[in-house]
Amino acid sequence: MRRVIVAPSLLSADFADMGSALGRVGDSGAEWVHLDVMDGRFVPNLTFGPQMVRDLKNRSGLFFDAHLMTVEPERLVDDFIDAGADAITFHVEACVHAHRLCQRIRAAGRKAGVSIVPSTPASALAELLPYVDLVLVMSVNPGFGGQKMIPECMDKLATLRDERQKRGLDFLLEVDGGINAQTAALALESGADVLVMGSAFFDAPEPAALVAMVRKLGESQPPADAPKRR
Ligand code: DX5
Ligand code: ZN
Repeated sequence: MRRVIVAPSLLSADFADMGSALGRVGDSGAEWVHLDVMDGRFVPNLTFGPQMVRDLKNRSGLFFDAHLMTVEPERLVDDFIDAGADAITFHVEACVHAHRLCQRIRAAGRKAGVSIVPSTPASALAELLPYVDLVLVMSVNPGFGGQKMIPECMDKLATLRDERQKRGLDFLLEVDGGINAQTAALALESGADVLVMGSAFFDAPEPAALVAMVRKLGESQPPADAPKRR
C-alpha cells in the first residue's frame, strides 16, 4: 500500500506557544513535523534557529524535518545536525556546492534534502538526485504560510517521480505550500509522498481528521513507483 506522510509546519503555530503546537502535531497522528528556518535574506521573513529545534526535539519523538530557507546553508547545517534534525533540506538556489553538502548531511546520519522554488525547473536537480533522500518541491514562493498553491508546480512532482522510477532512485518527494484538504488530491496524484501543511493544519478544527483524510486519500491511489527504501 502506498504510504503518505503528513508534515505539519510550525510556521503557522503560535510562536509564543511552540510546545503546545508540537503537542498538537503529535496528537494528530502525523509522523513528521516541518520546521521552516528563514533568515530574512533568502526569503523576506525570519523565524527561528537551531536552539528552537533542539528544545522542541527534547520534547518529542516526531521526525524533525528542517527546511532551511537561508543563504549559505553550508554555514548552518552542522548546527541543525547538532540540534537533532532528522532531515535537513536546503535550497539549490542558495548553494553552489550542493553535492558536497548532501554528502555532509548523510555522513552525519541524517536525511539530505534539496528544495527548489517555483521558478526553478526540476531539471536543476538532475545531477543531485542520486545523492539525496528527499526532494522538496515548493508550490508557493517561500517566506510565508497561508499562500495559494501554484498548480503548475505539480508538474514538477510528476517529472521527478518519473525520473526516480526511470533511474531506479529512492528519494521521497515532498511538496510544500498551499496544501489543504482540496489541493492534497492533486499533489498526491502528481506523486507527492510527503505533504507539508501549515495553515490548513493549524486552522483545522480537528487536525487528526485532516491527517487521516489525507493519508487515506493517498493510500487509495496505486503505489505505482513507491520508493524502495523508507
Ligand atoms: C513557506 C514554508 C511552508 C509553509 C507552508 O515558505 O516553507 O512550509 O509553512 O504553509 P502553508 O501550508 O500555509 O502554505
Ligand atoms: Zn517549508
